[in-house]
Amino acid sequence: MLIHFLQLLILFNLDYLEFRFFYKERNLLIDIFIQELAAIEFEAFEEEKEFLKAFVAKNNFSETKFQLLTLKYKHLYNSYKEISHPFQNWNKKWESNFEIININQFCSVRASFHLPTNKKYDIIINPKMSFGTGHHETTRLMAKELFNYELSNKSILDFGSGTAILSIISEKLGAINIDAIEIDEQVNKNALENIKINKASQINVITGTGKDIPNKKYDFILVNINRNTIIKEFNYFLNSIRSDSVLILSGFLYSDVNYISKFLKKHNLKIINSKMENNWALLIVKFF
Ligand SMILES: C[S@@+](CC[C@H](N)C(=O)[O-])C[C@H]1O[C@@H](n2cnc3c(N)ncnc32)[C@H](O)[C@@H]1O
Repeated sequence: MLIHFLQLLILFNLDYLEFRFFYKERNLLIDIFIQELAAIEFEAFEEEKEFLKAFVAKNNFSETKFQLLTLKYKHLYNSYKEISHPFQNWNKKWESNFEIININQFCSVRASFHLPTNKKYDIIINPKMSFGTGHHETTRLMAKELFNYELSNKSILDFGSGTAILSIISEKLGAINIDAIEIDEQVNKNALENIKINKASQINVITGTGKDIPNKKYDFILVNINRNTIIKEFNYFLNSIRSDSVLILSGFLYSDVNYISKFLKKHNLKIINSKMENNWALLIVKFF
């Protein structure tokens, strides 16, 4: 998925190159440009008011492919500049930059070094190497969405659970029997710490992928992962839903919604609502 630069640096201890493209104007072609950059190994993107930042690991950078692409899209920007980011202790920087996030009027997310907030749901996440703090649009979209349902006694599958933020919020909203599945064992160690610090007790953390989802049906399935992983793992999600289950998907750009919508239709599923924040999408999906 297209993740934020600091989160990327925490995941991979590498030297990175940043390219800053100064827009002529922000239009939808920029999303296509981003996708093409992603196809030549760019891993993170951040948009500012007047420019796009695109990041690539120095090891993976191909000057030839980059030149071809910048030529193809040169009508989109006035100029670009290259900035080098040698490896440093980004985790420290990320942690020291971690600002409290307000999900909504009832819920905030903070690290344990912050003072408690006065929100009813004062969630503590110490992310270490993991994704899921509420700083990314997709996590915020997912977390906010949870407040639109009556979750009391509902079962949850949190697929690609990262810090376990969505599982923790779900439990605070009354959910029980929460399975949090995450491919990365280190990330799960962090999830367990977050679960403990938030005094959650309904969350079963599983290291694995789609094939490791317990063989049962859930009331809600939460998936915040990139488009291709959603599609790759989709048959496993299908096994886990009943006719009245709600599937909440995010982790992709709004420009991907059409593609995903066609894919869902083939499985007799339809999008009943959608949300967007800064070009990132969230879809609420049910059976026809
Ligand atoms: C974008 S993060 C979402 C984290 C958190 N759920 C949130 O909403 O912020 C996606 C997570 O899925 C994990 N992941 C990627 N592919 C996976 C797979 N096939 N099966 C399980 N987890 C996967 C990644 O390691 C990452 O922690």
